Amino acid sequence: MQKDLLCLYDLTPSDFDLIFERAADLKARHTRGELYHPLRGKTLGMIFEKPSTRTRVSFEAGMFQLGGHAMYLRWTDTQLGRGESIYDTAKVLSRYLDAIMIRTFAQSTVEDLARDADVPVINGLTDMYHPCQILADLLTVIERRGSVRGMKAVYIGDGNNIAHSWINAALRLCFDLTLACPAGHEPDRGVLDRARGEAASRISVISDPFEAVRDADVISTDTWVSMGQEKQYRERIKSFSSYQVNERLIAASKKDVIVMHCLPAHRGEEITDAVMDGPNSAVFDQAENRLHVQKAILEILMTHNRR
Ligand code: CP
Ligand code: NVA
Repeated sequence: MQKDLLCLYDLTPSDFDLIFERAADLKARHTRGELYHPLRGKTLGMIFEKPSTRTRVSFEAGMFQLGGHAMYLRWTDTQLGRGESIYDTAKVLSRYLDAIMIRTFAQSTVEDLARDADVPVINGLTDMYHPCQILADLLTVIERRGSVRGMKAVYIGDGNNIAHSWINAALRLCFDLTLACPAGHEPDRGVLDRARGEAASRISVISDPFEAVRDADVISTDTWVSMGQEKQYRERIKSFSSYQVNERLIAASKKDVIVMHCLPAHRGEEITDAVMDGPNSAVFDQAENRLHVQKAILEILMTHNRR
């Protein structure tokens, strides 16, 4: 694997296989209560410029379980918040830490940090991508179906960071992906064109959610108002109102369709209680798998690749 995990587009199919294989092993060890400490003596720095529940807690617990230590660094509590450069921060943190996880706005911030840091950098969400989340989602699908190859995945709602990471995953792992998005909220053109250039027939964007979910194996959705878009709340709620993942929509799909949401969910907006808590929902397994998949990423980047 490359030094950093910035975007699923950068992974090869065998990188994905390695991550899923290590995640399954680490999950089994954890379930058995086995102590396993390959990262003893190592420290992960976690820079957050946006809020988090799952990402922070799963990375921090994951580092502890692997025998290492994780340090929470709120952007505004560091000198980054007072304008210290990414370059200087990267160089200094590389002298203390063995890896850095960062959640921020611009993908370019993560890329700059990775370029300037001498240790691995992991993208813990940007406006553009959320690679760790979609790796956890795919692990959840693999646990339930055995494989993702050849499946039909559907994404309903905003063409955002979650949608972009699904697009990259579909490209690399050879499954069909249909996205149903309202006009003006389609995925980024660049991300879409790059994927379609390599896998045109497998990735499509349409506007009708009912047409999209026909024969779907997986239906995934996300908030209509991502972090940083709070001022657009009213306008977005209106634009997305016919894109709710509810019982009517699920009924138009396969009986055993897996319903996913990266969380946090806004129950009653993009997804209903009946679907979130219903028999097709995998949402809490997805959340759990953040822990296992990220432990795999940490182990690979901090041991297999380096030193
Ligand atoms: N899904 C996810 O990344 O959740 P948090 O924002 O709570 O980290
Ligand atoms: N699209 C959401 C994902 C949260 C995990 C956001 O960026 O806020």
